Amino acid sequence: MGTKEKILALFEENKGIYFSGEDIAEKLSVSRTAVWKAVKSLQSEGYSIDAVRNKGYSLSANTDILSAQGIKKYLTPVCSEIELTVVSTVDSTNVAVREKAASGAAEGYTLLANNQTKGKGRIGRSFFSPADTGIYMSLLLRPHNYSAQQASKLTTMAAVAACEAIEAVSDKKALIKWVNDIFIDGKKVSGILTEASFNLENGFVDYVVLGIGINVYLPKGGFPSELNNIAGAVFNKSVSDGKNHLAAEFLNRFMGYYHSRESSNCAEKYRNRSLVIGKEIQIISKANPTTAVAVDIDDDCRLIVKYEDGKIERLSSGEISVRLT
Ligand code: BTN
Repeated sequence: MGTKEKILALFEENKGIYFSGEDIAEKLSVSRTAVWKAVKSLQSEGYSIDAVRNKGYSLSANTDILSAQGIKKYLTPVCSEIELTVVSTVDSTNVAVREKAASGAAEGYTLLANNQTKGKGRIGRSFFSPADTGIYMSLLLRPHNYSAQQASKLTTMAAVAACEAIEAVSDKKALIKWVNDIFIDGKKVSGILTEASFNLENGFVDYVVLGIGINVYLPKGGFPSELNNIAGAVFNKSVSDGKNHLAAEFLNRFMGYYHSRESSNCAEKYRNRSLVIGKEIQIISKANPTTAVAVDIDDDCRLIVKYEDGKIERLSSGEISVRLT
């Protein structure tokens, strides 16, 4: 960690508290000039750092900039193998982490971006990823001897973890629209895209990239017109540490489920938050939309539907999405 990162960690852990340049220099064994330069650089990145004569420097309690230091202060030991990288912009965190995975990165490598220029959604869609208002995060997993069916449970865990994380930092109730959309008050606030690479010889998963996008705040310029009635955000006003805290809560909860392998328990939690069970839905695939009733979701996260002619089918998420009618 460089001087700037160390100072940011100190500030993030002590928001609103003043530290003299001298104290910081001594704590970090660097010169006062180095401290001054690092503070200037952080200020130029948007950090609101107060500089007061005879008091020193202090990071404003209202700051909400995504950073590894800001997230780490909320992580619990279950995230010990998480290695965070936060960048300002990237095309897609999923694409970047897949590249890292292909070149041998270890489980736990996690990339967050303040902005994505080509955010990927499910079934070839894009994911609107404007700067400063969202969390765009991808996590590399290398589960041992996982079949495709087991890998699909990671999405279930992620959806439950996302709902629980949202509820831990806000007063909102979060629900899940099969397969992986998180809704608050009828609006989508988060989507999950899980991509896996398989070993063709044994059929097991080689690695999984779990990507999650969360609209923490409403985008500064509003949502594009096609999302206006569909998309929402977790908060409607700025919250101290909103993004860092939410990102960490997600990681804590997801890694808790991942390590405990309590997948059936997670399936129950998923069902309890389902927006579709018992409702009439439209199934949208390559063929024409079909009407059915969503009867249940099984432990492998397949949607059990009953068609108008009484036929029952279990649907895997692959190329399908559903719409509430
Ligand atoms: C969906 O709603 O269809 C899934 C959206 C998944 C978006 C996240 S944002 C972080 C990660 N990187 C991407 O390009 N996509 C996922």
